[in-house]
Amino acid sequence: MLFFKGLFRKKKHEIDYGKLPEHIAIIMDGNGRWAKKRGLSRSIGHREGSNTLKKIVTFCEEIGIKYLTVYAFSTENWKRPKSEVDSLMSLLKEYLKNADKELSGKNVRINVIGDISRLSPEIQALTKKVMKSTSRNTGMLLNIALNYGGRDEILKAVKAIAKETAAGKISADDIDEKMISDHLYTSGIPDPDLLIRTSGEKRLSNFLIWQSAYSEFWFTDVLWPDFKKENMLEAIYAYQNRDRRYGGI
Ligand code: FPP
Repeated sequence: MLFFKGLFRKKKHEIDYGKLPEHIAIIMDGNGRWAKKRGLSRSIGHREGSNTLKKIVTFCEEIGIKYLTVYAFSTENWKRPKSEVDSLMSLLKEYLKNADKELSGKNVRINVIGDISRLSPEIQALTKKVMKSTSRNTGMLLNIALNYGGRDEILKAVKAIAKETAAGKISADDIDEKMISDHLYTSGIPDPDLLIRTSGEKRLSNFLIWQSAYSEFWFTDVLWPDFKKENMLEAIYAYQNRDRRYGGI
């Protein structure tokens, strides 16, 4: 009897692959605490975090997620000690340098969102190179948020629209939500359906603040370096069991 029960019981977090969230956004938090718990340096935590990212990118592409946006470095992260900023930058460099090779045959397109003008010329060149070399891929779009801040993004959009208005190209009455969306880094990309934050923190921390107006949020205590495919399935399962009403009934 127990045997048959086991056979027919629905597997834990069995998801419906026909109803996947189109766009998943992730705040990859907890690298520092993961390292601290093991008596290791924060930079080792970020390295493990970067390895987790590689696995999760591959997994999301394999199951058919169309857009994945990850918060790699915020406009506020410059406040961290220089040694930590340097180690994050060198990990990014490594990630971007190896992205072509690592993602070869994986059909992932890479796009960097954020104000890259403050990053080193080498990283700027690498981001442009990898965006160009993966631009023909038709699978998942991976948005890496680098020196990204939601308020900064909205401010830039407002300034650009104000300039177009001042130049007489548009009138103030033409400004609508779509125009603002079209002036964000994520222009042309659907808003995230599901936003995940790891490590037990329950904040947006200036990530996709315009775009996440109707996103489903999913929080887990799991620290980012420990985040596994099973956790992603758990998040998607939770998402598929939510009732999205967009303000309706
Ligand atoms: C938060 O952990 C994480 C970050 C500030 C950076 C995220 C970076 C990575 C996952 C690795 C590098 C990314 C790429 C694209 C190669 P935290 O340091 O705030 O952790 P804590 O809250 O436990 O201190």
